[in-house]
Amino acid sequence: METRVVSIPRGGSSLGHFDDSKGSLDRLEFWHIEPEANEAVAALQPAAEHLRTKDTPVAFPTETVYGLGADATRSGSVKGIYEAKGRPSDNPLIVHVSDLHMLRSLLGGKGGSDDVIPARYKSLIQKFWPGPLTILLPIPDPSPLAPEVTAGLKSFGARMPSSPLALTLIKLAGVPLAAPSANASTKPSPTTAQHVKDDLDGRIEMILDGASCQVGVESTVVDGLCDPPVVLRPGGIGMEDLRSCPGWEDVVRAYKDQSEEGNAAPRAPGMKYKHYSPKARVVLYESTYRAGKDGIVAADADAAVALTNGHTHAQSANGNSHKRVGIIRTKRWRAAAGLQCNDLHLSAGRDDDHGESSYEVYAGDLQNQEGHVIGEVFDISLGQDTKRIARGLFSALRELDRRGVAMIFVDGIDDELDIAAAVMNRLRKAASDIRA
Ligand code: TXA
Ligand code: MG
Repeated sequence: METRVVSIPRGGSSLGHFDDSKGSLDRLEFWHIEPEANEAVAALQPAAEHLRTKDTPVAFPTETVYGLGADATRSGSVKGIYEAKGRPSDNPLIVHVSDLHMLRSLLGGKGGSDDVIPARYKSLIQKFWPGPLTILLPIPDPSPLAPEVTAGLKSFGARMPSSPLALTLIKLAGVPLAAPSANASTKPSPTTAQHVKDDLDGRIEMILDGASCQVGVESTVVDGLCDPPVVLRPGGIGMEDLRSCPGWEDVVRAYKDQSEEGNAAPRAPGMKYKHYSPKARVVLYESTYRAGKDGIVAADADAAVALTNGHTHAQSANGNSHKRVGIIRTKRWRAAAGLQCNDLHLSAGRDDDHGESSYEVYAGDLQNQEGHVIGEVFDISLGQDTKRIARGLFSALRELDRRGVAMIFVDGIDDELDIAAAVMNRLRKAASDIRA
């Protein structure tokens, strides 16, 4: 099947709005599409029509990552998601809604009253929706959702994204969209349309290209149906932000990171699979690892050099990928993380070509102790700012894979606050080795 990338016009007037004159949750009752947004709406209409009528999913941007959407009320279309992704069907999907009106229709509500929404979620919805937060809700009997969405569970995850493009697409489709991240199963989540194409070309019919994702890591998943409420997956909304909401002061973490995994069964089924992995071997340095304060330790540097098997640079030009090493820097490391290298120069990445990158890629020659050039180093600095690190993280892992590196060394950050917990959670899953 041919995969079309459909560019959605940006800029100009906004796509739609909520009614800010209304207080509390009433504000989110309806997403109103702007009559002036004609051009973008016209570009989205065929995708909305496709979602309503066909069984192959459509990839679309949200503020977190790109999603692979299908009508959540039809079994055929939901099965299409699992097929395209090569994802096990016991992993439940998040249901995306355009507004509270649509959410109520999934909870057995008759409209008008907001009672069908469990009281505990109201403070969260008010503060964080639309946005990178997924809440678990009870499935009514009967339910309009296709059973395949939730893989037999008694609750479903719901999210109202803040991306106006996503809200408008859902509204035009007129149905809630079940959507996992639009990566091939186990790969890092996609934050550009090109990432989706790299993974799913030929497996889906349509990718909506609407710029890169501003948050860059997936939504925080919470369960407020149990006591105390729990975080099942760290994401775009931090623990301390949740705690500031009435009813959520005691929220606890119910996910385990790689470094802490024991025998406990994972609560969010998706968390048990290998995830976020580039092809390269990822070595993560925890921020608490003193020896790795300003670069990789000698043993790792030796291992990186040993990868080259003593070949010369001329031989390495023949496409043997084992001569390339990647570095992802954040708050502490110096250029090339202390690897011996020369001629480190700016080397444009593909994302740069689209003017959307939140980082720069530098390339240089890797040298052995005698000063012979034996390979290449690709160095990406994501900067000091945690939000910016989150925005560039998946893209940087993919970019280094595209450069054919055999190893990626990553400078980890403190995971105490906000979105940093999500960054480190994803990195620990991607890592083959953790230096702690
Ligand atoms: O930001 C996001 O959440 C993105 C965008 C596209 O919205 N979506 C996303 O979906 O990350 P996915 O399928 O890659 O991850 C969904 C996560 C998984 O960890 C899954 O186990 C959990 O949410 N989840 C979904 N429904 C659940 C349920 N009923 N009970 C427990 N966990 C659930
Ligand atoms: Mg995913």
